[in-house]
Amino acid sequence: MSRAQSLIDEACTVKGNVQVGPGLYIVTLCAPGIARTVQPGQFVHMLVPGMEAHVLRRPFSVYQADAAAGTFDVLYQVVGFGTDVMTRLEPGAVMQAIGPIGTGWQVPEEGGVLLVGGGVGAAPLFMFAQQLAAAGRDVKVVLGAQTKDALVTYDDYCALEGASVVPATDDGSFGHAGFCTAPAQEAIESGSYPNVAVCGPEPLMKIVSRLALDAQCSCQVSLERRMACGIGACLSCVVDTVEGKKRACVDGPVFDASLVVW
Ligand SMILES: Cc1cc2nc3c(=O)[nH]c(=O)nc-3n(C[C@H](O)[C@H](O)[C@H](O)COP(=O)(O)OP(=O)(O)OC[C@H]3O[C@@H](n4cnc5c(N)ncnc54)[C@H](O)[C@@H]3O)c2cc1C
Ligand code: FES
Repeated sequence: MSRAQSLIDEACTVKGNVQVGPGLYIVTLCAPGIARTVQPGQFVHMLVPGMEAHVLRRPFSVYQADAAAGTFDVLYQVVGFGTDVMTRLEPGAVMQAIGPIGTGWQVPEEGGVLLVGGGVGAAPLFMFAQQLAAAGRDVKVVLGAQTKDALVTYDDYCALEGASVVPATDDGSFGHAGFCTAPAQEAIESGSYPNVAVCGPEPLMKIVSRLALDAQCSCQVSLERRMACGIGACLSCVVDTVEGKKRACVDGPVFDASLVVW
């Protein structure tokens, strides 16, 4: 389902912008229109102020939203020019954003749900976890990061009623020592989670999708592509699927993993 018809172009005022881990920040933005309408797994396409030489917007998932306060949070990792500029945004700065964009997570009809988030891939899954926990669903969350300091969403996930959270760190500084694929595999093979949703580095999504589909589980993935227009017009974000080429921005970013040609 495309949500292009409900797009808002909104001035988002920075309320806070704090470092939460190594190269990781959370920016809180006041934007009542987006905060009220965003669905789990959707994203916003942001114009970073002071980037006159870089005309393209930057896509970011909404980490969490507070409809009553009219705010939403973005958890971002510094990887290049735009995200570096973002770290210096002070309260009161304005980022223009189009959103909420895209097809988000679909709530499975029945059964437990396993969420697997690698790195900042934990961000787009959080609203989905909130939605599932609020509906009383059995939710298990496997979170992977390189180090304990980078596991910045762990406390938020642990605070969700009924969700069991398994941390994994590559360096073994917290939780399972090694990649989060091992605890994900264990959860899938337990048979208690016939539904899987995963977001993170592409190799992680590919491995977890394969494990889930081999175990006859449903599996959703949130794919990241470079995006120019963000509204379905330019075809810069195509994803190969068994049904042909799809646009990550409006046909996704969440796709049924069984349709994706990796
Ligand atoms: C739907 C979607 C949701 C995303 N959600 C988040 C999120 O919640 N948190 C987060 O930290 N990151 C997220 N990203 C990635 C984020 O968009 C890029 O990290 C950001 O655009 C980099 O901008 P930059 O100017 O700092 O990097 P640049 O200097 O432009 O490039 C650095 C690297 O970032 C990647 N990149 C740059 N532009 C884009 C783009 N338009 N689309 C995808 N990748 C790009 C490229 O791989 C490049 O190698 C998301 C991407 C997509 C497509
Ligand atoms: S970014 Fe233009 S079609 Fe997806």
